[in-house]
This record gives sequence, C-alpha cells and structure tokens, in this order.
Amino acid sequence: MSLNTNTWNRLRYTLYLPVYDLIADRIFRKYRKRSVELLAAKPTDAILILGAGTGLDLPYLKGYTNLTAIDITPGMISKLKQRADELGMPVHAQVMNGQQLDFADNSLDAVILHLILAVIPDPVACIKEVERVLKPGGTAMVFDKFLPDGQQPSILRRLFNQLASTLFSDINRSIGSIVSHTSLKVELNEPAALGGAFRVIRMCKPAENVA
Ligand SMILES: C[S@@+](CC[C@H](N)C(=O)[O-])C[C@H]1O[C@@H](n2cnc3c(N)ncnc32)[C@H](O)[C@@H]1O
Repeated sequence: MSLNTNTWNRLRYTLYLPVYDLIADRIFRKYRKRSVELLAAKPTDAILILGAGTGLDLPYLKGYTNLTAIDITPGMISKLKQRADELGMPVHAQVMNGQQLDFADNSLDAVILHLILAVIPDPVACIKEVERVLKPGGTAMVFDKFLPDGQQPSILRRLFNQLASTLFSDINRSIGSIVSHTSLKVELNEPAALGGAFRVIRMCKPAENVA
C-alpha cells in the first residue's frame, strides 16, 4: 500500500528541503523556462504556482506582477519567500492543499503545475480544483512525467511504483485519464526530459464554461 498522503508528503519534503534544489534545479531548468514561454501570459495575469516547492520556477516568471504560490509543506513556502525576496519579486505565498484551493471560482488566468500531478495524493481532485479556479479561457501548464495515455503498467512497474510513489513520485499516472475528469482541453503535449517520459503540457478551460 502506498504511503502517498498529504501528511507523508509534508514530512518527506521537509526532510528533502536541504537538498531539493540540487536535484530539481539544473536538469529541469530548460523545461521550466519552456513551460512559462508556452504559457505566454500577460504580465498582470493572475497566476497560481500550485505545489510550488522552493520556487525554482520564479526566475522564469520575472516581470509578472500577480503571482501566487502555494504548497503543503511550510518549509518549502519559507524557502520560496526567501527566493522571491532575493529576486525582488512580489509573490503571495502561502501553505495550502492543492486538492482544496482557497480561491474563488473563475478567479485565475493561469495555473502552473510543475512536478506536482505525479506527486499529489489525489491528482483528480487537484485538476478539478484547477478547473474550478481558472477563468473561462484560462490556461494550465503541466510539467511532469506520465505514462503514455492508454498504456497499462506492467506488474513489475506496479510493484516498483509502491516504492517510487512513496519516496519520489508516482510513475504510473497518465495525463489523459487525470484530465478526463474535467472540461479542460489539452492543446499541446510535447516531450521533455528523460527521452519524453517527462512532458510539457498546455491545457485550457473552454470559454463556453461561463455560467
Ligand atoms: C516534486 S516537488 C515540486 C516542487 C516545484 N513545483 C518544482 O517544480 O520544483 C512536489 C511539491 O508538491 C508539494 N505537495 C505535495 N502534496 C501537495 C498538496 N496536496 N498540495 C500542495 N502541495 C503539495 C510538496 O510539498 C512539494 O513541494
């Protein structure tokens, strides 16, 4: 049984904090930058970084004036605030569960989900929250590793995933099945790190969702 719960994630990411940037910065820089480029947001757009970690995306978001960052791990948010100060960037950062966002319906222009959909215990609850808080026509950018849609993981892979999902991230999630619970439309899905196992994905909330 996987230990992937919010309590466990808060604990393990607190423990990983001192070395997190060594692992997650250099190899993923190119894709963080690419994702922000593909978002193509306006400088004043209301942008949420969900599961923002230590704020490694911030250097690519300079010039954006309405940034909010949330994460379930208090230590991550402290480190992110420190980074935002060092970069001279105004970021509203707070501890929050990405499966239960404290934002109004249709209130955000964009949500950035980097290395979170394969980590968060309930990715469907998370993406439904993203759908809820996005304005019609709003954009969500995902960077993460996924199993190709429709591919079933082998028994060995399922077994290994018990360990992977507990210590690192789930290796058996597919973006198609996560997004299928929402009205979000995948506009672009391009290969990124590890020969395309990681993807940069842009999705949009249809404008006709307006009530
Ligand atoms: C792999 S890290 C990614 C951090 C950052 N997005 C990045 O790209 O470096 C996963 C992050 O998700 C956070 N997290 C896990 N579960 C969460 C939840 N339910 N709500 C919000 N953040 C969560 C962890 O605390 C951790 O900072």
